[in-house]
Amino acid sequence: MERAKFILEEKDMPTSWYNIQADLPEPLPPVLHPATGQPVTPDDLAPLFPMALIMQEVSQERYIEIPEEVQEIYRTWRPTILHRAYRLEKALDTPAKIFYKYEGTSQAGSHKPNTAVAQAYYNKKEGIKRLTTETGAGQWGSALAMGCMFFGLELKVYMVKISYEQKPYRRVLMETWGAKCVPSPSPDTKTGREMLAKDPDCPGSLGLAISEAVEDTLSRDDTHYSLGSVLNHVLLHQTINGLETRKLMMEQADAYPDIIVGCIGGGSNFAGLYLPFVKDKIDGTKPDLRIINVEPASCPTLTKGPYAYDFGDSAGMTPLILMYTLGHGFIPPPVHAGGLRYHGMAPIICHLHRLGLVEARAEHQLATFEAGVTFARTEGIISAPEPNHAIKVVIDEALKCRESGESKTILLAHSGHGHFDMAAYDAYLSGKLTDYEYPEDKVKEALASLPEVPGR
Ligand SMILES: Cc1ncc(COP(=O)(O)O)c(C=O)c1O
Repeated sequence: MERAKFILEEKDMPTSWYNIQADLPEPLPPVLHPATGQPVTPDDLAPLFPMALIMQEVSQERYIEIPEEVQEIYRTWRPTILHRAYRLEKALDTPAKIFYKYEGTSQAGSHKPNTAVAQAYYNKKEGIKRLTTETGAGQWGSALAMGCMFFGLELKVYMVKISYEQKPYRRVLMETWGAKCVPSPSPDTKTGREMLAKDPDCPGSLGLAISEAVEDTLSRDDTHYSLGSVLNHVLLHQTINGLETRKLMMEQADAYPDIIVGCIGGGSNFAGLYLPFVKDKIDGTKPDLRIINVEPASCPTLTKGPYAYDFGDSAGMTPLILMYTLGHGFIPPPVHAGGLRYHGMAPIICHLHRLGLVEARAEHQLATFEAGVTFARTEGIISAPEPNHAIKVVIDEALKCRESGESKTILLAHSGHGHFDMAAYDAYLSGKLTDYEYPEDKVKEALASLPEVPGR
């Protein structure tokens, strides 16, 4: 009988994160101070983040040790399982071998605690009492609520209003872990009040919620800000997943992927899985490995955005980041995959895309739910709307193998379950879900206000 799942013993869980910066063929472009156009310094970032995370942001060390206290909490749900999707393969009648690494078994239901726990730890160690953050789908907010609970930190979460309304139980989850959660735009910050005055029905966006959380942080000495995606240190923490997967594939499943597929919002879950593999592409051991980043057609950052310096938030409070962007003023249409509605993208992913090491594809909402239902009816897992985007592409690639007769190995980064997304499934199953077109005019408008970089 062939094995359906592969798992590491707790004692074999990786004890370091992998830092791709040590192996990049060209260094990452610098993050710039918007007033001077000069690279930001650690001191510029110190009001927002603990120094340990700022140093990880720019570290060139290949491996960074995971603190013992963080490993201890990781072990409450890690290592996670690598599955072989026999039932999906059979239903598709494909010779492809489909594997998926499933992060939905963390207490919060996604990959997000991998960095939430680490960020709470480093802030606690620096004497910080309170964190603020934004959340889209509510996955990040709930993961950080759990991380803060473990280390005794207070947390205030600004949740994108459309998701706050679509997913009330995510708020209750955060509150149960002890956090405070408000819809963004909120009346609690200047940014929120200004937006509400302009548009009282504003559905919110990740960029706007980030502005509110940053403003809150800068107004208090005991508070830091925590970001659930995009930044280098977040992707670094997520590599625990890729390191486990690499070990499991090579040592237990005797397999190596031809294609790796995952969804990208800010890019953390997918990069976390593939960075330890992209290394093989950079050093020439696996030149044919394909890595496909999947995003929503309604928020097509990598597939349609220009590569430009832009703010990470909508009010223009963050440093300038070189990335594919739809413009920091872009408010994406209210698709159900709330975690994929971000105007920018992790600089590491953008850099790899620029260097031709990874690919990108955009998918429409309805097709992704169809794929998610196929997955639920074969593998049993009800996936979050975000990984449904990746499942759609896995199915497409597996069907291509059926046509060509090739037995490719496809690895899916499965970022979380959809147990709090029943309203979205209900809308899909009752025929009420619609596709949102790429809002070209709105993107054009947002791109017109890309910031000038001083001195360039
Ligand atoms: C389940 C799930 N997958 C993916 C994402 C997208 O984020 P990232 O690209 O950082 O993994 C989110 C974000 O909220 C999420 O909740």
